[in-house]
Amino acid sequence: MIDLFVGLDRLAPGSAEALRWALGVAGTPATGVVLDAGCGTGADLATLLAAVPRGRVVAIDRVERFVARAGARYPRVETHVADMAEPPGGPFDLIWSGGAIASLGVGAALEAWRGHLAPGGRIAFSDLCWRTDTPPDAAQAFWPEERVERLTAPALEARVREAGYEILGSRWLGTPGWASYYGPLEVELDLSEVEAEAVARLRNEIALWRTHGVNSDIGLWSARRPAHDVTLALPRATSMQHMSSLECIMTAATVSLLRTGLPGLTGPCCAGYAVLALARGRP
Ligand SMILES: C[S@@+](CC[C@H](N)C(=O)[O-])C[C@H]1O[C@@H](n2cnc3c(N)ncnc32)[C@H](O)[C@@H]1O
Repeated sequence: MIDLFVGLDRLAPGSAEALRWALGVAGTPATGVVLDAGCGTGADLATLLAAVPRGRVVAIDRVERFVARAGARYPRVETHVADMAEPPGGPFDLIWSGGAIASLGVGAALEAWRGHLAPGGRIAFSDLCWRTDTPPDAAQAFWPEERVERLTAPALEARVREAGYEILGSRWLGTPGWASYYGPLEVELDLSEVEAEAVARLRNEIALWRTHGVNSDIGLWSARRPAHDVTLALPRATSMQHMSSLECIMTAATVSLLRTGLPGLTGPCCAGYAVLALARGRP
């Protein structure tokens, strides 16, 4: 399977536009240190590099050939073969993970990354979620067979909050982000000499997406420290010069606005990839 994927520029649904949205909501500083956890072949590295022109981008993946390809594409990026649970090169102002967090599980990943964030650091990630309580039978049957846990957006958000983070904003990825992954993958499958069973599974996945269309999408969220934590953290953050008073007030206002609802996450679709930007939770 690695032979099949190593030639692809993107190994999961996603887009530069969606990542830029997450970076913007997270407020990534131009001088920031950013981690791409589960970078694959480097799909998101150009966007991350552009976001921190005076900063540093670290990219890790456990597959050596993916890391080698990512490093060859973007020599300015510091690359490591490493486990996402123990990322080297921090502390980070932003930990981004595009379509990879499921391998650790949302709760476990957020716990593991807490100690690798700089003060005031954020986390942003994309993940696959149901967009309805009643997904189509075919879709329900497919993903467990692939050993992929799919949560609804509210269930995923509950895990985020349980881990001590608060969501700043959210949205779905939308069709272009899926097409940018499945389009080149389909071409690769046509040319592939990888074992037939694996190719058939991937074709089924693409067919499922085509058939149910809006039923499968990828969502994006953005989050930050809870309003009450912000209030408590204000003197400490100010004294540590990690957060300005204005920023703290803006945070509380943003959180309270966001608590009024996430209109972008309602609608007819039944599943999606979530992208979230999170503030560092409890120390
Ligand atoms: C679906 S791919 C997405 C890759 C890339 N972010 C992209 O969008 O193209 C998930 C990636 O996470 C990597 N991965 C999964 N679990 C990992 C772990 N525990 N540590 C490091 N990398 C991991 C996989 O090797 C794979 O490259």
